[in-house]
Amino acid sequence: PPLDTILSTHDFEDVASRTLTPKTWAFYSSAATDCHTRSLNNSLFHRLLFRPRLLRNVQRVSTHTTILGHHVSLPFFVSPAAMARMAHPEGEKALARGCASRGVMQCVSTNASFPIGEIVGAVAEEGEGEGRRPPLFFQLYVNRERAKSEALLREVEALGVKAVVLTVDAPVAGKREADERVKAEGGLRAPMSGGEAGNDKKGGGMGRIMGSFVDPTVRWEDIEWIRRCMKLPLVLKGIQCAADAKMAMEMGVDGIMLSNHGGRSLDTSPPAILVLLELHKCCPEIFDKMEIYVDGGIRRGTDILKAICLGATAVGLGRPFLYSLAYGQEGVEHLIEILKDEVKTSMRMIGLTTLDQAHPGYVNTLDVDYL
Ligand code: FNR
Repeated sequence: PPLDTILSTHDFEDVASRTLTPKTWAFYSSAATDCHTRSLNNSLFHRLLFRPRLLRNVQRVSTHTTILGHHVSLPFFVSPAAMARMAHPEGEKALARGCASRGVMQCVSTNASFPIGEIVGAVAEEGEGEGRRPPLFFQLYVNRERAKSEALLREVEALGVKAVVLTVDAPVAGKREADERVKAEGGLRAPMSGGEAGNDKKGGGMGRIMGSFVDPTVRWEDIEWIRRCMKLPLVLKGIQCAADAKMAMEMGVDGIMLSNHGGRSLDTSPPAILVLLELHKCCPEIFDKMEIYVDGGIRRGTDILKAICLGATAVGLGRPFLYSLAYGQEGVEHLIEILKDEVKTSMRMIGLTTLDQAHPGYVNTLDVDYL
């Protein structure tokens, strides 16, 4: 269908389910075992209700904000996801160009289908002034051969990437049965990790086969080692309880991303929103100490705005950006425009004109008071 008939993230998902190859759809859409967390990630947002404040002049609204000091046009970003080239030949490069043209931050995965240098280069070609460009972050999976990770971190820093995001919620790959069932097509490579999707006796699980380079021995002490490899700000992605959030704070990391890997790692792990509420109860001081991001199941401007009201600096979207790539860079830009309109409309409806006015009072969380 033509791009102008696509009105929501759901429309993009619908097209992707019909046009991506069966392997690509299985890899992108799959989640761990019974996929409870994948569905809960989104459905929990519907149980948070707004407390709109009315009769305010909402003609002019701004969605601008900052992420680790970098200016961005919108409070959402591209979460790191492997192998975008399976959806479009330009993959992460098309994502980078779309994000650059709209002022959106992108986090590039260690399992990206292009080397980081090529992705950075794709944006540089756009010719936009360096100063106005949104930041690129790099997501790290620690390689069992640590020297490879050290070299990658040095390369990333030299390329002008603005932060490193260490993923901590996938020491091993989750059990994703849809991904196992569909055989891999061959020739699928992740150049930075050296991963190659194939088939083995157990099946065709791309996540499992491509994730086999990841070092499961990583522990809190290794944060020091990563700090020694580069000077960039460090974010931990995949934090799922207040105790670990506090550990991260004590270690002095610059930010945490509350995430369950889109439900792909541990089924029945908690949606990020619940962890965000846990932080309000157990360590409210954390919101002044570092930036908190959330991802998982974010599909609407209202989802984005609720997370921001509850204290998130910005939120990530994984699958929706991969699905938008069915239309290449134009699809990415269209997705960003859709979400931008939705964010602006919901801001007006609850009485906000800038994001720094957002606070928890705009959201009624009683229905999800699990703690
Ligand atoms: C991911 N995710 C992910 N995370 C990460 O840190 N490194 C990675 O390489 C990947 N790869 C990846 C591949 C695919 C196909 C998906 C769908 C996801 C997780 C990702 O960053 C993010 O946490 C989730 O995608 C967020 O959930 P939604 O927005 O997809 O619901």
